[in-house]
Amino acid sequence: MTKHMTKTYFAPGRVNLIGEHLDYNGGLVFPAALTMGITATFNKRDDNKIVLSSATHALRKEVDLSDALAYDAKNEWTNYPLGIVHQLKKEGHFVPGCEIHYSSTLPEGSALSSSAAIEVLTAYLLLSQSETNINLSWLSNFCKQVENEFIGVQCGIMDQFAVALGKANNAILLNCSTLDYQYVPIELNHYKLLILDTKKPRSLIHSKYNERKSESDEALRILQTTSDIQNLAEANMSALELITDEVIKRRARHVITESLRVKETVKSLRFNDLSTFGRLLNASHASLKNDYEVTGKELDVLAEEAQKLKGCLGARMTGGGFGGCAIALVHEDAINEFKHVLEYKYQAATGLKCAIYESEIGDGVGEKKNENH
Ligand code: GLA
Repeated sequence: MTKHMTKTYFAPGRVNLIGEHLDYNGGLVFPAALTMGITATFNKRDDNKIVLSSATHALRKEVDLSDALAYDAKNEWTNYPLGIVHQLKKEGHFVPGCEIHYSSTLPEGSALSSSAAIEVLTAYLLLSQSETNINLSWLSNFCKQVENEFIGVQCGIMDQFAVALGKANNAILLNCSTLDYQYVPIELNHYKLLILDTKKPRSLIHSKYNERKSESDEALRILQTTSDIQNLAEANMSALELITDEVIKRRARHVITESLRVKETVKSLRFNDLSTFGRLLNASHASLKNDYEVTGKELDVLAEEAQKLKGCLGARMTGGGFGGCAIALVHEDAINEFKHVLEYKYQAATGLKCAIYESEIGDGVGEKKNENH
């Protein structure tokens, strides 16, 4: 076989600073890419096979490019890259025979978008072999479609978009109905954004997530009987009177109040008003707990105990919920004590050990130059 050069690519995970469960409601979200993420090495093969392997999983998968591919639980983590290969072929893109080896610094199943990261990474590296100037906004949508159709999760665009278009030290203010976006510099002075991982397995995430999406769709359907709004995030508080079902009303109230909080957050950051940002994080968590009901005991203990600790301006769950991670804005001088006390309190209340990460805001997907070996 011809010896081909190894190429290396990276895609980050993400946190969402605020604007939770708004993407599929056509609202504003405010995610940032992390410096933690997934690295993949690509080696071209001279035959028609794709071989997928990972440093963190025993399962290795070999498929022929002419094989029909479908989701199969037995394929575990490889369902994500296989879904990308399936969709690329379906849309007539060139997919080369190759070996892809993944390694990761991103905890999986922790709501830090490890699935969006592996999707975007795989699509980007495969397309890069035959295309230049890949349109990253298009790429995010392509990967979202794989998640919706191949994997079966009715997620919005936020995760794939942040993983593809992240920018170091900036969050992305993304309008999920138009895909217009702008970068907002995140200057936290002496504060750091910590990631608090519940380490709780997220077994309910897919079914409950899809259930919240249907409830939001129902709220929109009701409001559309008297107004011509296209997305639930466009509604205002007075519209809530039209909804008689208490559960649907609370879901809609979260979407409306959270949309206001995103705008307030961006304003507060432009004025470098971190105390207001912190209060908005706390209010977002309360709304996700009480109105949208996507937190659960572990996330509540972690975020609410964090909120009480010295040096912490605010904390909230991030991502889909039902386990996974929260974020907290903590003064750098208070971090050690914060970690110590929070770990203790969390374990006392839940019996679980949390993990606390200090990732920075990094760049989106790309090739890692000068790392060929
Ligand atoms: C998950 C989904 C996203 C988004 C968030 C909640 O991360 O993949 O599309 O809906 O939950 O904001």
